[in-house]
Amino acid sequence: MPLAVPAASCADATAAGVRVAVRLVDLAADDRVTARAASVLTPAELARARRGTPAVQRRRVLLRAALRAALATELGVSPRAVPVRTTPSGRPEAGVPGLDVSCSAGGVLGLVAVGRDCRLGIDLEQVTPWTPDVLDEGWLDPAEQRALTRLPATARAVATARAWTQKEAVLKARGTGLLEDPRTTVTPIGQPAGTVAGWSMSDVPVPDGWVASLAVARDEERPR
Ligand SMILES: CC(C)(COP(=O)(O)OP(=O)(O)OC[C@H]1O[C@@H](n2cnc3c(N)ncnc32)[C@H](O)[C@@H]1OP(=O)(O)O)[C@@H](O)C(=O)NCCC(=O)NCCS
Repeated sequence: MPLAVPAASCADATAAGVRVAVRLVDLAADDRVTARAASVLTPAELARARRGTPAVQRRRVLLRAALRAALATELGVSPRAVPVRTTPSGRPEAGVPGLDVSCSAGGVLGLVAVGRDCRLGIDLEQVTPWTPDVLDEGWLDPAEQRALTRLPATARAVATARAWTQKEAVLKARGTGLLEDPRTTVTPIGQPAGTVAGWSMSDVPVPDGWVASLAVARDEERPR
């Protein structure tokens, strides 16, 4: 699908009173762009990217390079010089006090979020047609399942994708990812903004066909 997201396209968001810089990343970029992106990665990042299929390799290279570029802009250094690290559970960390970062990919679109004096998580999903089978997948708690079925049928596909992105945004902010049961992070079905498990939640503007959520807490107000 042609997406035409310019490399520097932004969709900044504000949550918990914090301005978060969000970059949209074109993950369908050609070989020349991908090779240039690969040139800013460390050998370890490249080795990790190269463990996947060609499509996964391209996605990982482009997303990690975009993450480096976003941090480089904040820090005023070159993307290669950004001291980004990865925790044992896979969470990227800026490597600089007071700066946090998160990223996500959904098909040919990627997102990178960077914020100061806060902890954040971002997640992106492509919207797929609603099917009641989703209620049996085990990631929605009973109250969320009831709330989904009470929505008009036409609103359920987006609401389902948003519930997933809100959960993952929180789990990425915490750094646990899906090592934690997503059912226990209960979301306000049908609502793009609010508080989820103590995190300020907001929708991120993305092209039609995707939904993205950002979870943010100021450093001093970070939920346990
Ligand atoms: C976080 C997680 C849910 C994201 O999976 P996903 O929805 O398929 O992928 P997304 O595109 O939305 O996000 C991917 C990015 O999330 C980031 N990420 C990975 N684990 C993360 C974590 N625990 N916390 C925060 N961010 C994480 C990475 O930067 C990753 O990008 P990369 O694969 O290019 O490095 C999933 O990777 C996970 O549960 N990881 C933790 C558990 C695990 O398997 N750890 C393995 C040890 S490395």
